[in-house]
Amino acid sequence: MTDIPAIDALYQESRKFPPPPELVSSAATNSTRIYAEGDDHQNFWEERARSLVWRHPWDQVLDWSGAPFAKWFTGATLNVTESCLDRHASATPSKIAYYFEGEEGDSRTITYAGLLEEVSRFANGLAELGVEKGDRIAIYMGMVPEFPVALLACARLGAVHSVVFGGFSPEALADRINDAKAKVVITCDQSRRKGQTVDLKAFADAAIERCDSVEHVVVVARTGADVNRVPGRDVDYRELVSRQRPVRPATECSSEDPLFILYTSGTTGKPKGIVHTSGGYLVGATTTHREVFDLRPDDVYWCTADIGWITGHSYVVYGPLANGATSVIYEGVADYPDKDRFWNIVEKYRVTQLYTAPTSIRTFMKWGDDFPGRNDLSSLRILGTVGEPINPEAWMWYRDVIGKGRCPIVDTWWQTETGHMMISPLPAVTETKPGSASMPLPGISADIVDDEGRSVPFGGGGYLVLDHPWPGMARTIYNDPDRFVDTYWARFSSPAEGRWRYFAGDGAKRDEDGYFWLLGRVDDVMNVSGHRISTLEVESALVDHPSVAEAAVIGRADPITGQAIAAFVTLKAGVKGNQPLIAELRDQVAGKIGKIARPASIVFTEDLPKTRSGKIMRRLLRDISEQRKLGDVTTLANADVVQEIARRAQMQATTEE
Ligand code: PRX
Repeated sequence: MTDIPAIDALYQESRKFPPPPELVSSAATNSTRIYAEGDDHQNFWEERARSLVWRHPWDQVLDWSGAPFAKWFTGATLNVTESCLDRHASATPSKIAYYFEGEEGDSRTITYAGLLEEVSRFANGLAELGVEKGDRIAIYMGMVPEFPVALLACARLGAVHSVVFGGFSPEALADRINDAKAKVVITCDQSRRKGQTVDLKAFADAAIERCDSVEHVVVVARTGADVNRVPGRDVDYRELVSRQRPVRPATECSSEDPLFILYTSGTTGKPKGIVHTSGGYLVGATTTHREVFDLRPDDVYWCTADIGWITGHSYVVYGPLANGATSVIYEGVADYPDKDRFWNIVEKYRVTQLYTAPTSIRTFMKWGDDFPGRNDLSSLRILGTVGEPINPEAWMWYRDVIGKGRCPIVDTWWQTETGHMMISPLPAVTETKPGSASMPLPGISADIVDDEGRSVPFGGGGYLVLDHPWPGMARTIYNDPDRFVDTYWARFSSPAEGRWRYFAGDGAKRDEDGYFWLLGRVDDVMNVSGHRISTLEVESALVDHPSVAEAAVIGRADPITGQAIAAFVTLKAGVKGNQPLIAELRDQVAGKIGKIARPASIVFTEDLPKTRSGKIMRRLLRDISEQRKLGDVTTLANADVVQEIARRAQMQATTEE
């Protein structure tokens, strides 16, 4: 079997935590019957779809005749903003949709009525700029209230948003704008981060220089910095919206009209534009948000993800709003001004559900119990995690120190491509085990298969596949349907038998009780602090440097970030590897991709370990980086190079200490 990490060494976790009795007695979803209901997939999702606002009902729940290109709720029409905004603005106009907490301590509250008005004004403003249904709009912003407004204004018009995380570099932004041929870019003058500012508008300007499709740039003034303004092209957000009417009829869309594109890293250097459509996506995001978080009318829910990632799309914007929830949006980092900022926010807003990443939890653990100890966290009822496997130790800390043993933990496994959660406990139904995402949610079906695609019996490990279509599944890769089929479906499907299995790229083990234990990626994708980064993208950023001949990049285990990026670089003849060059190469990667992709370590080497066919042996490099006993090197064309790299890596580790 290909490289599935840690499958044998899997922690034999035997602790189990049943749902707390008081939660079982008060939760809307509190019976295992829901799993049986979910076995009838189509009926299950059809029932859930009825909770949304549709203009025209569907003829068919699922059309799988064009597999693996799914269509859900065919024939139906809707505009997702009517479920997210209009109905709440009329039923509960003064209910808070968002509590916004700025990094500097400034705050704003936005009601459903206020949000609908702002979205309508901005939709009118975008229409004034010529935006029409189907146009692509790039959004590159900091976490400010105008961020969700921007997504929703696009959706109001049936325009397709393509959000690019505000930490990405101009080059990465330009690639994404060009791939989608975005007509408008929405950005901020600056964003705030850890007491500093980031010049988003300047980054956007640098990107747009290379993009012919962009007609207008809308700039939200966050800090009021004096930024470059290109006459005729750039528009101030406030000036634009203040001259608009506060009403905008929603554009009727088909259930399968695209709602957004979100780029994610794959195993090649080119990010994939994952396409999500309207009806099915909203049904999936809304249902899972409501049921996994046991959402109740007075809850204050906080998902700490940036809207730039899928978690922000589904669980800061669409799911919570469609459910009429009150959410917190926080602009900044967890240690500004001090390491108790998250806990201040939990106390200040009386947060009931907290949804964050294992990397954050491990960081909080490292900072110590005193910080959460300073605040009253008694409002918390459910704790969620997402983005990477959570180790049992961090799970237990989350449960004991943050949840005081009272709050179930929902470890939610899913992906940009799945659109919404796939494997997760239901807090008042599922017994949890530390480190396991438990079982597929009702209406979802997953399996674990071996190299030949045979289902692996309970107790075994292999590749995670999803063997039934689900409503929020990616519909395609933008402009590249063949890559969609090749990447996700080709490996484990048998089209001739009508059997389609989506391959997630993750390894997993299933224990004797049928619980899934996620083991990380099995492809050349790293997961750094819950963010996907392709080894190839980092390698090509390094090789672009004039001094670099060749580069190999791997994710090595890291106690805080899950994986850390380790690069092995061979230099061109005559170039000397030294500390300034290491700094330059790290900056080079930050400049090409973004700071999140900056290698944690760079080792210069004369050669890279390769198989006889010339393939770089990443597994070996991983072993070297993690200082494990080296595996079989007999297939290596250049076996002695391994000892040399190991020696240099060791030397570097010693100097870093
Ligand atoms: O490897 C899995 C990991 O994150 C990948 C998906 O990354 P992305 O599309 O960026 O979406 C992240 C947020 C949904 C998966 O292939 N992953 C995500 N959640 C978990 C996880 N690994 C283990 N446990 C999880 N709960």
